[in-house]
Amino acid sequence: MSGAGDHVDRITEALKTAMASLESAGDVESLRRVANEHTGKGSVLVGLKSALGSISDVEVRKATGRAINDAMQSLDALVAERLSHLERAAASVAAAGEAMDLTEHLSRRSRGHAHIVTQAWERLEDVFVGMGFKVAEGPEVETDFHNFTALNMPPNHPARSGFDTLFVKYGDAGSTLLRTHTSPVQIRVMQEWDLPIYAVMPGRVFRRDTPDATHMPVFHQIEGLVIDKGITFAHLAGTIEAFTKAFFGSDFTSRLRPNYFPFTEPSAEFDVRSSNGKWIELGGCGMVHPNVLRAGGVDPEVYTGFAFGFGIDRMAKERHDVADLRDMYANDLRFVRQF
Ligand code: DAH
Repeated sequence: MSGAGDHVDRITEALKTAMASLESAGDVESLRRVANEHTGKGSVLVGLKSALGSISDVEVRKATGRAINDAMQSLDALVAERLSHLERAAASVAAAGEAMDLTEHLSRRSRGHAHIVTQAWERLEDVFVGMGFKVAEGPEVETDFHNFTALNMPPNHPARSGFDTLFVKYGDAGSTLLRTHTSPVQIRVMQEWDLPIYAVMPGRVFRRDTPDATHMPVFHQIEGLVIDKGITFAHLAGTIEAFTKAFFGSDFTSRLRPNYFPFTEPSAEFDVRSSNGKWIELGGCGMVHPNVLRAGGVDPEVYTGFAFGFGIDRMAKERHDVADLRDMYANDLRFVRQF
């Protein structure tokens, strides 16, 4: 007759084998398959259980039965534990796959920043937009008409020689050029927009100049144009003063000095300074000449206006105390990174 020991050895053996393969099942699906192999129909343990009836010794049968039940319980517990482990692992793999990368801001360290001229350009726009102006831009390649004639500088007008002009080989000789100032955008705005006009026009301009500490052949200006009924020189002076305080700070003031420009009459030059500083010459301004209004399709008997224009590079240079304009365009990172 066989004792309980033989049965128990076979159960222990089956349990060990089952545990080892449950432990090594790497995913939920193979765990379920392995669990079924060792605890389902056709498994060693279930086979032993159905053979219990053939054990004649009651005590041996009982002991064997208990051992099988214990083994089954241990396996069930292990399956449950492995299942929850594998499910958690699968969930975190899925979560990792779906996760969004929110670390983008870390790359800011290597991001650049706007050039000081661009910074000044954008701040100027902001200040004027805050005062109710709209922003306009015109072409860099212009006609002689927009750059000169419409601005009260007909062919052979002496003021033309003050603008060292770069011409473009296009159309009739001398008819096309790189704009020497942003003033031609005044004409385009008058021709295209409805009245009244409150506009600023920033942009790149070109002159046949040799680069030195205070001149570049390519630089930037911002133009202003106001056309409405009843506009006077007082509006011009008030606007310049309001702009000066908004842009430079409330301790700054402006002054106008008589000057001559063909496109304005009267004309003035305007300077700004802080309460204890030196006067900085910023640009020109004046009441829009009736001939200019007419060229823009505006009736000077009904409307009046003022205009102004000044250099953006000059402002950036003053603001950041740059000694030589050429440094601003050398693309030397040692310079650029200072701002
Ligand atoms: N266009 C002039 C220049 O480049 C600047 C200027 C002066 C613009 C007077 C104006 C103005 O609109 O009224 O030197």
